[in-house]
Amino acid sequence: MCGIVGYIGTKEAQGILLEGLSKLEYRGYDSAGLAVYNGETIGVRKAKGRLSNLEDKLAVHSLPGQLGIGHTRWATHGKPSDENSHPHVDNAGRFAVVHNGIIENYLELKEELIASGHQFTSETDTEVIAKLLAELWNGDLVSTVQQVVSRLEGAYALGIISEYEPDKLVAVRLASPLVVGVGEGENFVASDIPAILKHTRNVYILEDGEMAVLTADKVTLMKVDGTPVQRETMRVNWDIATAEKGGYDHFMLKEIHEQPKAIRDTLASRTKNGLVDLSKEISLSKEEIQNIEKIHFVACGTAYHAGMVGKYVFEELARIPVECDVASEYRYRNPIITERTLVIVVSQSGETADTLAALREAKKQGARVVAITNVVGSSVAREADDVIITWAGPEIAVASTKAYTSQLIAIYLLGVYFAQVRGHKSAAELQEIVTHLQELPGKAEQVLKLEKSIESFARSIAKHQNLFFLGRGLDFAVALEGSLKLKEISYIHSEAYAAGELKHGTLALIEENIPVISLATQKSVYDKMVSNIQEVKARGAHILGLAVEGDTELRKSVDEVIRIPATIDLLTPVLAVIPLQLIAYYACVERGYDVDKPRNLAKSVTVE
Ligand code: F6R
Repeated sequence: MCGIVGYIGTKEAQGILLEGLSKLEYRGYDSAGLAVYNGETIGVRKAKGRLSNLEDKLAVHSLPGQLGIGHTRWATHGKPSDENSHPHVDNAGRFAVVHNGIIENYLELKEELIASGHQFTSETDTEVIAKLLAELWNGDLVSTVQQVVSRLEGAYALGIISEYEPDKLVAVRLASPLVVGVGEGENFVASDIPAILKHTRNVYILEDGEMAVLTADKVTLMKVDGTPVQRETMRVNWDIATAEKGGYDHFMLKEIHEQPKAIRDTLASRTKNGLVDLSKEISLSKEEIQNIEKIHFVACGTAYHAGMVGKYVFEELARIPVECDVASEYRYRNPIITERTLVIVVSQSGETADTLAALREAKKQGARVVAITNVVGSSVAREADDVIITWAGPEIAVASTKAYTSQLIAIYLLGVYFAQVRGHKSAAELQEIVTHLQELPGKAEQVLKLEKSIESFARSIAKHQNLFFLGRGLDFAVALEGSLKLKEISYIHSEAYAAGELKHGTLALIEENIPVISLATQKSVYDKMVSNIQEVKARGAHILGLAVEGDTELRKSVDEVIRIPATIDLLTPVLAVIPLQLIAYYACVERGYDVDKPRNLAKSVTVE
């Protein structure tokens, strides 16, 4: 996920592009860059890190000109660095391109272009587009772009300028968002509306397979094969703050709703014919996987809760003993680590100090380390032996949602991958799990349709000061995550309990009307869970039951029920957590607190 922006008109482009990028930084902030045509040549400036680094460079060496493109990057191919930043240019500097998406056949194209004499300076997939433009140049920018696009496989939103035709800015869209802003004597292109909203409210939303040719006073839409497209502009009525959040009131709500996509993207191209293939990401040989003696999951907060699910997954699928530790405890408890220990660190940011320190300690003691992280090029990603990236896209809200469900997907994929090698489950059983995994994005969409009834429950409990979450097995792991979410943003005190453990002390806290959220999604412990629900019901609790579709029993024991789509027990956490995220969100909204920036907390905890 990256952000692109483009300008053509009579004003200086640099300031407009920088301002546009500042509205797109939520789409990635690994690096940024601009290319501006100065009347003779295309000048390029790029800088690793936040946009302010680029601004500092431009303060010294500005880019004058009224035609330009800009980019803010969320690294996919190649680490965050100046070289890998966009825009990318051809060797003669005649074309500049910014890209959001992934070119799947870039290696093949790169080899072909190298053979024709093009030299590459970055590790990105995007650079092939700049070189292809030069290779296929036929004297007409639009038709050259069309030829280039016909060679690309994957997803892209592109902004392209050329010294040969400096009165044009060309934009193309396939499976990555792109809008065109229509101004007076000036036109704009961007990944998202906030980037151009200050200049115009009249936009075209490009559809897949369409391109736009912008001059200062005209926008022409067409399909990539040249067929003209006629469409009215759309008038944007949102304010800038709403637009940045894609129309949602808060980033957290937007990110909750992005989960079907995050799950889909994290699964994408890692499963084939009912099998999981992580051979490009995991360098462990079959023999090494066979020889793993134990696994340690190490992480903090929400990522630790994902690791707790991981314990069940690896013990069930691969029959490897698993311990799950909070990173800040792990490194100081003198854990028993051997060369046959696999340590799996889970970290959305990849920069959490405790997790990083635990990773280093584990490596020092001879363990192999696999990292599950959302940030390409993060410290955790760089220092681990192997990395599985969760393709959740940038998570802005402090409370983690889509990163957690994506971490679960990465854990399932790795669990099945190991199981395929270790052979404790039959191929048919594993294929069935893969089929169920592939159904999760659609089922997550169905859970989101329950939002209204979840909201009304959440608002009704917002006045309480105490609350319980109960669950058994995997439901307990999810209960812990639901409880953390509620605490961190709504400031309601809550405890998550393994339902069978309650009667050993904590039951004393159950009193008339206290809300208890009881998860009963696990068939293997369902009857036991219902008995535990009766225990709290008998003491006057007000119970919300979380069940799976088709369960008509639970309603008899609880006051309210939410039913999520059925899947196999092992995968239910991905769906069960979504209502709990929404409960936390709406309880916070009802109490009037700052959803995206809860007090005392920070998104990335880089201190111990
Ligand atoms: C809670 C939350 C935190 C993080 C924790 C680890 O919503 O987001 O508990 O999960 O600080 O952060 P990462 O995953 O970046 O290592």
